[in-house]
Amino acid sequence: MKIFVDTAVLEEIKAVKEMGILDGVTTNPTLVSKTGKPWKEAILEILKEVPDKPVSVEVIATDCEGIKKEAKELAKLGPNVVVKIPCIEEGLRAISEMHREGAKVKTNVTLVFSPLQALLAAKVGATYVSLFIGRIDDISYDGMQVVEEIVDIYNFYGFETEIIAASIRHVDHVRRCAALGVDIATIPFKVIKQMYRHPLTDKGLERFLEDAQKAGISI
Ligand code: E4P
Repeated sequence: MKIFVDTAVLEEIKAVKEMGILDGVTTNPTLVSKTGKPWKEAILEILKEVPDKPVSVEVIATDCEGIKKEAKELAKLGPNVVVKIPCIEEGLRAISEMHREGAKVKTNVTLVFSPLQALLAAKVGATYVSLFIGRIDDISYDGMQVVEEIVDIYNFYGFETEIIAASIRHVDHVRRCAALGVDIATIPFKVIKQMYRHPLTDKGLERFLEDAQKAGISI
């Protein structure tokens, strides 16, 4: 499973990159606004730090022509830019039209909450589809159940669109997505850090270090 970090905070992106586990980055207008930086400055900094892995950047237009215009502008920012487009009629149409026109724009259909939305994202040839697991859980449905159905549908028809498990709230979401063979999880930095932490690791290490000291081990 590929690991994307779901943030616009440069220090968090750098930390995941330095850990050697970064496969990509996803942003959205909310995440960029949290950095307190001007939008373009924040995006260009991320692209400079991550020039060779997919970086999702979201459009704000909601009409087909506007989405296409913004998508083409965003794609000019870097070869690894993936344009996030909401799963609305105009968004799906924009992706289809860009395909027909031969525009070289990689797309990520976002704000997806159902298998049918994911089916349509694949039908229009999106590069990625982002399923918001946590927000489905928030309204008392089972986000993981939706992931499972999407994985089945995509496998059944052999769609090439890659599934991004998004709106990840805790490590169990990540574990269950990995067990289902989901292509990608885009994970908040704080959840990535929880992935390698385990109380028994900390306890075990403490004991090993104590014993090493007692035995006078130095390497
Ligand atoms: C996906 O690409 C979104 O940026 C993100 O995962 C949304 O997560 P949230 O529901 O925690 O805002």
